[in-house]
Amino acid sequence: MGHRAAIVGAGHTRFGVLSDGPRRLLRSALDAAFASVDRGLDRSQVGETYLATLGFGGWQIGNAAAVLAEEAGIVGVPATRVENACASGGFALRAAVRALESGAVDLALVVGLEKMTDVASARRRYWLGVSGDTEWERSAGLTFAGVYGLLAARYLSEHHVGPEALAEVAVKNHANGALNPNAHFQKAITREAVLGAARVADPLGLYDCCPVSDGAAAVVLARSDIARRFTDTPVYIDGIGAGTDHLAVQERSDLTRFAATRRAADEAFRSAGVDRSDFGFLEVHDCFTIAELLALEDLGFARPGEAARLTLEGATARTGRLPVNPDGGLKAKGHPIGATGVSQAYEVFVQLRRAAGARQVPAAERALTHNVGGAGATATVTVYTAG
Ligand code: COA
Repeated sequence: MGHRAAIVGAGHTRFGVLSDGPRRLLRSALDAAFASVDRGLDRSQVGETYLATLGFGGWQIGNAAAVLAEEAGIVGVPATRVENACASGGFALRAAVRALESGAVDLALVVGLEKMTDVASARRRYWLGVSGDTEWERSAGLTFAGVYGLLAARYLSEHHVGPEALAEVAVKNHANGALNPNAHFQKAITREAVLGAARVADPLGLYDCCPVSDGAAAVVLARSDIARRFTDTPVYIDGIGAGTDHLAVQERSDLTRFAATRRAADEAFRSAGVDRSDFGFLEVHDCFTIAELLALEDLGFARPGEAARLTLEGATARTGRLPVNPDGGLKAKGHPIGATGVSQAYEVFVQLRRAAGARQVPAAERALTHNVGGAGATATVTVYTAG
């Protein structure tokens, strides 16, 4: 179907508990992204910039996008903030792709940012909840871990699966994170440790949850027809899709399927003109271990209930048949909310250029990213091919 846009540069800060403030994180990621463009580019040629952030803790609640243009050293260039909770990065990427494929601009910059760990614990809990449904969920005390705990309990009982399948997602993603120098947790863990950890929202324990992390990631995108001016190895975006669902999970007809992901995936595959075969790896939104299993099924890589078996068999390991989250995923790499969707695109950029170091997947020409907001109310799916 042809390329829609191309990534020509990408940058990433470490994810974790960091001393840097939001502006410095932003600048580190975007400086690294510009520096990574093989033949360099003049920043003043960038026609659109997008900042994906929730503004966790109240950092620059209004007009935050102006800070991006400022830190990029291109004040004057249009800047737009995109906020769709944890899917902010995916939606920002989609906006940039639309701007490029329309021919309106030649170059676009997308940066995702969140500073989460300098917020006191009660306030942190508040900000972790703001993207959930307020009337039915938050006011009743339901956290995101609580919602995903309900989905996990339903999945396990519906498909007669034990908690080992959830634990295996954590074990695999921690093993991958141990190879990623940008990951929040660079430490392998055992299945016994996951199953024996303190419970957060049964059946989810500590190691079933993503952590609270600081970090930023950035990608520089070009119109696909001019991408080779900047590098011999662009990574093309061939399809991108998005969807929404009811904000409150009680309004949904099915608790173990995310309609937003399904819609986004259908659009992404259709617009790329590809089916589910020939994907070298997937980057999916594993904010809780159950979310990775649901993603594999909603994206169409496993039938309902089958993702648990695939995971237990090792098919989704970094060296397995279909590697999932080779960077450690949200679980081990960390989940600085606005940065996550952009970080997934960063991972695809380095992997498809065979520059991922110790965590390199064996062979990949095509990859997919999947980014979800909250408990599935918003989602994007993007299909990439190596240039
Ligand atoms: N996975 C693995 N280890 C974790 C962890 C996680 N998710 N979260 C914290 N830890 C570790 C810390 O590194 C720390 O280890 P140390 O004692 O060796 O330094 C220890 O556990 C305690 O950390 P602390 O920050 O006090 O944990 P906490 O109990 O305050 O928070 C959670 C744990 C799971 C509640 C928190 O990480 C959380 O809320 N995660 C979900 C975030 C979220 O909802 N994001 C939006 C998704 S939609």
